[in-house]
Amino acid sequence: MRTQVGIVGAGPAGLMLAHLLRREGIDSVVLERRSRDYIEGRIRAGVIEQWVADLLVETGLGARLQREGLVHRGINISFAGSLHHLDFTDLIGKHITVYGQQEVVKDLVAARLGGGGEILFEVEDVGIDDFAGGAPRIRFRSKVGEAIEIDCDFIAGCDGSHGVCRPSIPRGALTSFEREYPFGWLGILAESPPPCEELIYAYHERGFGLYSMRSPTLSRLYLQCAADEDLNEWPDERVWHELHARLGGSSKLAEGKVLLKGVTPMRSVVVEPMQYGKLFLAGDSAHIVPPTGAKGMNLAIADVRVLARALAEFYRFGRGDLLESYSHTCLRRVWKAQRFSWWMTTLLHQPVDANAFDRRRQLAELDYLAGSRHAQRALAENYTGLPFD
Ligand code: APR
Ligand code: PHB
Repeated sequence: MRTQVGIVGAGPAGLMLAHLLRREGIDSVVLERRSRDYIEGRIRAGVIEQWVADLLVETGLGARLQREGLVHRGINISFAGSLHHLDFTDLIGKHITVYGQQEVVKDLVAARLGGGGEILFEVEDVGIDDFAGGAPRIRFRSKVGEAIEIDCDFIAGCDGSHGVCRPSIPRGALTSFEREYPFGWLGILAESPPPCEELIYAYHERGFGLYSMRSPTLSRLYLQCAADEDLNEWPDERVWHELHARLGGSSKLAEGKVLLKGVTPMRSVVVEPMQYGKLFLAGDSAHIVPPTGAKGMNLAIADVRVLARALAEFYRFGRGDLLESYSHTCLRRVWKAQRFSWWMTTLLHQPVDANAFDRRRQLAELDYLAGSRHAQRALAENYTGLPFD
């Protein structure tokens, strides 16, 4: 087999890259080790920055998003028993859309398959060769066990944080910057109306709580917990009790059937550079953010937007400079998103070794945020998505 761009991974990064390349007339093959059902059912975050929603609409993927996505003018911050609304539309004229990541994945899969494109699901033993120089190749075993090789001009490593592309780069060529947080999120999806029309980020001395949603009747709720929290110790009653407590009386929470329960550890990772020869890393394969700023999918889409443009310029005009500067261009945005996600995380979570000084300092910062339009604008600008250069 032969293609122009071999894409490993059918998450938001790989699928969106394939979609953008197709619009430029560039041929690609997408390989995914899981099944279609699996990737379409995987529940992940659900906040879409304004430019991402615009890009989905502009490139023909917006029909369901515009019908089912919930446009939010801003978010709420709860602390010391009261709720403070930050109205992004009023502050900076922008908004966000609440639409699950797996819905974006479903729309992208449908567009690719419906447009005559292919996604090779359930492939095994994927490996990449000769990407340092001339003629990169991807080898794998197909769903039915056939050994296949694909010759490519370029490889896009969109295979997430446990993929094969990043570890295939020679040791010493990459530097990894990491921070582990000493807590995780216990998340549930519940058949209950969310306590408020827009998200609530709750600071509470019992720990952080987040009250998000997927629809007016489906809540997505999270509690700060230990990084290695044992779910067996969290029967539904305990989860609801804690969710009520952490709202701190600022809103009323309705209970409902719990459809899903899980624990997510929290960490920040960036690898530099995001490219090696003809291999380009995009999305979670190059960086992970803690979920507090809802940046994961948005950053993945930002990377592939840069990569698709660079590849289009290369094929159209033979220009290699945008490909050469891919990593540099992406990393400027990645580090700003890391900074913002770290800031939201440390502002809102109880540090494990919290002392009275730290709590007073966090409360002072929240009080400042609630009272200063300048501080609110800075949050709004980062939350809704920083502009591109
Ligand atoms: N071969 C083929 N596919 C692979 C391999 C492999 N060896 N390893 C991993 N994959 C697939 C995974 O099964 C997954 O479907 O790569 C895909 C990577 O997708 P994501 O993990 O969704 O990563 P990305 O597309 O970068 O999107 C980032 O996803 O992790 C969330 O919160 C994160 O929102 C962020 C977004
Ligand atoms: C979610 O709805 O899953 C969600 C929302 C906001 C976040 C993280 C997750 O910061």
